[in-house]
Amino acid sequence: MDMKIAVIGAGNMGGATALGLASAFPQARITVTARHAATLEKFAARGLQTSLDNPAAAREADIVILGVKPWLAKGVLEEILPVLDGKLLISLVAGIPAAELQGWIGGAGLRGAYTVIPNLAIEYRESMSFVLELAGTPETHATVQELFGAVGRCAFVDERRLNAGMMLASCGTAFALRYVRAAAEGGVELGLYPSEAVEAALQTVKGAAVLLEARGTHPEAEIDRVTTPGGITIKGLNAMEEAGFTAAVIAGLKAWKPAK
Ligand SMILES: NC(=O)c1ccc[n+]([C@@H]2O[C@H](COP(=O)([O-])OP(=O)(O)OC[C@H]3O[C@@H](n4cnc5c(N)ncnc54)[C@H](OP(=O)(O)O)[C@@H]3O)[C@@H](O)[C@H]2O)c1
Repeated sequence: MDMKIAVIGAGNMGGATALGLASAFPQARITVTARHAATLEKFAARGLQTSLDNPAAAREADIVILGVKPWLAKGVLEEILPVLDGKLLISLVAGIPAAELQGWIGGAGLRGAYTVIPNLAIEYRESMSFVLELAGTPETHATVQELFGAVGRCAFVDERRLNAGMMLASCGTAFALRYVRAAAEGGVELGLYPSEAVEAALQTVKGAAVLLEARGTHPEAEIDRVTTPGGITIKGLNAMEEAGFTAAVIAGLKAWKPAK
């Protein structure tokens, strides 16, 4: 796709998004901005355009992706608003109510506006991204689908499910990694070297995901295939449940509270 994209705020999420899109769309012209020149060096080394001037970067683009922290979003939007006329705005900023964001961008004359919550695997084109349409047309919808479908999977949802998706898939990256860390620590206690334990935990999680995806079954159906009656897997699972595994995961997912 021949596009001009500006990523305003190329930190962890904005930067990963810029690199994922650069990999998926080599023909696109992608400009990233940040507060400090040092942040931009790694992007210049990867062939992206860089700038410390948000309005100039946004002016040159057809698609503007906002990647700054939530408490900076309003100020940075005010800075670029005068040049957003006719452009597609994609905000990666989590936790801002749709009505509030719509209020900030109301008069900008945008072609479309979306909140997209990806996860950090977007850099490697394996994100699970949730999309909320704030304003748009079938054409902008298709563009957002094309962009975020090329860097993983993407699902269009309403606001309530956006927050659920954020907990499951965006914060979920940390939750999944915490499982990997816990499994690796257990593996070391059982006698594996730390590097062996991390590799084993990681490959096992990856394999379980591939297996489930390929078979299209429910997780519990696959668990049944691993559990011999009276065997060690069911003993391990039951010990984990006694320690609160499922309840702990659900409590973590429900920790999100809307901002007052
Ligand atoms: N991290 C995630 O997994 C994740 C997932 C989904 C959504 N998000 C959302 O993504 C947003 C960014 O989070 P993050 O974790 O990527 O934060 P981050 O790593 O701190 O990145 C923010 C970036 O914004 C830049 N910045 C700050 N002020 C700026 C300004 N005035 N103009 C241009 N750039 C500016 C910073 O530049 P310097 O580096 O030069 O200071 C920094 O690179 C948040 O709103 C968050 O809700 C994050």
